[in-house]
Amino acid sequence: MSGNILVADSDPNIVEIVTESLRSEGYHTESASDGQEAMSKFREFDPDLVILDTVLPVIGGLQVCENIRVEPGKREIPIIIMSGGLNGSSVAEGFRHGASDVIKKPFSIEEITARANNFLTRAGEEKKQRMEGGEKDFEYFQREFKRKVLNLRTLFDLSQDFNRLKDPDELVHILCLTLIGQLGIGSVAIFRLQKNDYNLLEYAGGMGIETNILQTVNFSKESGLIKYLSKFDNFIDLANRGIPGAGRREAHFLVKLGLKYCFPLIIKENLIGIILVGEKINCREYSDNDIEMFRLLCHSAANALENARLYTELQDTYLSTIRVLVSTIEAKDPYTSGHTDRVAGYSSKLARRMGMSKKEIETIEFGAALHDIGKLGVYENILNKSSALTEKEWIMVKSHPEIGANIIRDMSFLKHASDLVRHHHERLDGSGYPDGLKGDEISLGAKIIAVADSFDAMTSNRPYRKPLTYPEAIEQLRMQSNKFDAEIVETFAEIIESRVKVT
Ligand SMILES: [Fe+2]
Ligand SMILES: [Fe+2]
Repeated sequence: MSGNILVADSDPNIVEIVTESLRSEGYHTESASDGQEAMSKFREFDPDLVILDTVLPVIGGLQVCENIRVEPGKREIPIIIMSGGLNGSSVAEGFRHGASDVIKKPFSIEEITARANNFLTRAGEEKKQRMEGGEKDFEYFQREFKRKVLNLRTLFDLSQDFNRLKDPDELVHILCLTLIGQLGIGSVAIFRLQKNDYNLLEYAGGMGIETNILQTVNFSKESGLIKYLSKFDNFIDLANRGIPGAGRREAHFLVKLGLKYCFPLIIKENLIGIILVGEKINCREYSDNDIEMFRLLCHSAANALENARLYTELQDTYLSTIRVLVSTIEAKDPYTSGHTDRVAGYSSKLARRMGMSKKEIETIEFGAALHDIGKLGVYENILNKSSALTEKEWIMVKSHPEIGANIIRDMSFLKHASDLVRHHHERLDGSGYPDGLKGDEISLGAKIIAVADSFDAMTSNRPYRKPLTYPEAIEQLRMQSNKFDAEIVETFAEIIESRVKVT
């Protein structure tokens, strides 16, 4: 057998007999003759079993027993109390003070060694089980740790993706896909602050649900469900009976649509949106891990949505400032009044009719709205001159696309539009300016704006000529197929003809 045993008795004979017999069993022993020595030996020797007499000098055996029980990490160590006056109450007294066993003096050597063997064998097994349990705990911990690292890495990647997206609608779409893909959620709906009314939340997008009804719904921030939710930064069960009054009715409405849980999106204590989700695809309950991941995703999404909103606001501010500048050009020349807006309208319709992407349409709208901004850099008297321009004046007028492109190219969101501004006077045969580009060297967006711009110029009044009618202008564009893209001209003709028919 192996193990360390501490024996404490004031009678040296008993100490000698007990320790000798335990040593012959293979144990290491230490002894103490009083309670104080017993405590210090206990700390030095670190025994696996303690055998104590109840009557010890300095500190009594029962007190030593109690002291051991509060030693850090030693609460479970077996302690056998040896007692001379053993009756029922003193046995109970021994157990009350924390003894594992009580043995009556006089006892046989076989009895004490048998009990010591018992305890140490049991203690050994328990220790082994604890170690095995510890290994299992360690394996579990490692698994959990790996899962958390994976979650965090996924989350980090997703957050980066979210923050790269500047278009709020695209962000909502990606967020829905992420929630469905990462957490296996069956249905998602996202509400966010309305652009023009920060007190109302409107439907922004969703998946796996009937969107027709949700598109007609607005939630006020100041009342009902949203007011209730704004106090939380957590996963809320919409069936929760704690939701008060009108809020409960709104929650019930959402639950009936299959949206059972909600996470409020809060930035600096201000609610900017909510994410509603239904059951998981596998119909299981949301686990703690799901909720933790969901919460982290929502925090990341809230920041990204707010950034996208601020970015859009900033874009709108820039654009409206630039439009004011453009309108000042038109204000100086009554003959070009409304030209920019009309060119922007025609170009937008053309881009849509030609099946271009949302992003491309947006770029064309920006480009068309700003196409003549470079005229800010051309003298007013030249722009308004009714007689023929001198060569020098003509060079100045022809510089407006380049000046305009330079004005806006450093604004990141207008970078692509600046290309359209630069090339809106290029022609397919290379006769245009400023770069004399030909055919496919000219982007589709620039070709579209060229058609819209020329059509508006032809149909507008000028001091030196009368405007063409719409059909005459279309005919002019068709006749100049060496300059204007035929497909664009025909698409434009359809748009104009349908407009003429309606009006
Ligand atoms: Fe122009
Ligand atoms: Fe123009």
